[in-house]
Amino acid sequence: MKKIIVENLKYRYPLTNELALKGISFEVDKGEFIGIVGKNLSGKSTLCQALVGLVPHFYKGAYGGSVIVDGLEVSQSEISELSQKVGIVFQNPFTQVTGSKLTVYEEIAFGLENMGISREEMRERIDHSLKLLDIYKFKDRNPFDLSGGQMQRMAIASIIAMKPEIIVLDEPTSQLDPQGSEEVFKAIQNLSKEGMTVIMVEHKMEKIAKYSDRVMLLNHGEIVDFDIPEKIFSRGDLGDYGVTAPAFTKICKGLGIKNKITGLYPITIDEAYDLVVSYNE
Ligand SMILES: Nc1ncnc2c1ncn2[C@@H]1O[C@H](COP(=O)(O)OP(=O)(O)O)[C@@H](O)[C@H]1O
Ligand SMILES: [Mg+2]
Repeated sequence: MKKIIVENLKYRYPLTNELALKGISFEVDKGEFIGIVGKNLSGKSTLCQALVGLVPHFYKGAYGGSVIVDGLEVSQSEISELSQKVGIVFQNPFTQVTGSKLTVYEEIAFGLENMGISREEMRERIDHSLKLLDIYKFKDRNPFDLSGGQMQRMAIASIIAMKPEIIVLDEPTSQLDPQGSEEVFKAIQNLSKEGMTVIMVEHKMEKIAKYSDRVMLLNHGEIVDFDIPEKIFSRGDLGDYGVTAPAFTKICKGLGIKNKITGLYPITIDEAYDLVVSYNE
């Protein structure tokens, strides 16, 4: 089932001359984990905002084409209705914190309070999402006493507690150390295995390669390519788009080690290892 259908999406911010999105079309199935990569200002964040309705409801400007998420035409739907289906996590968790709640627990409860769910279910959802992001131990702490990484995980937990069908994450691990990033990716992958559709913008290509089902390469507001990570990272022109392949892929490209059947380079260390071993047999 298609969870996201984008057709010829064009968008220009107010008071600017150039389109930020220049006629983008793609579809995403339920439960897919999609990575979005591309250089600065290529339109990644704008596309995220268009998927959750901030474009065109909050950012006005010129808008054309259509975005349908979980059956809702975004431009024709209320943000409140959309937010039940699709949640967004921003790069900077400070922008996402209410600033008025005294504990992490209350902060996460805030998003659930208007959803008409029972106290008991609220507690279950909050506990589950806190544990999933490994911040249950901070539940009674003041959100502003958390580190950047912990706060980011709180922001993700508060979206997850709302159980959206689709979650959009715009560089969610930029505040996190390698271990924190891995934990976030694993938690998000588990959600995608449970059927949540994931759209994630990231610069950590090792992680994008490892976790994404498909990767979208954006440049100047256009989709250059949208395919399995092996295909994307085997391209010879990634540098033109400000993207570097994962380290293992680069080493294998340098050594000419590729899968003989598919002609593609490996994207993870395990795949690279298997190929090297088979070359030496
Ligand atoms: N709030 C805004 N107002 C005007 N132009 C914007 C705004 N946000 C982004 N843009 C423009 O839209 C284009 C795409 O930017 P963005 O979506 O932020 O790219 P990315 O997330 O890939 O860095 C850029 O040309 C940028 O200058
Ligand atoms: Mg951005």
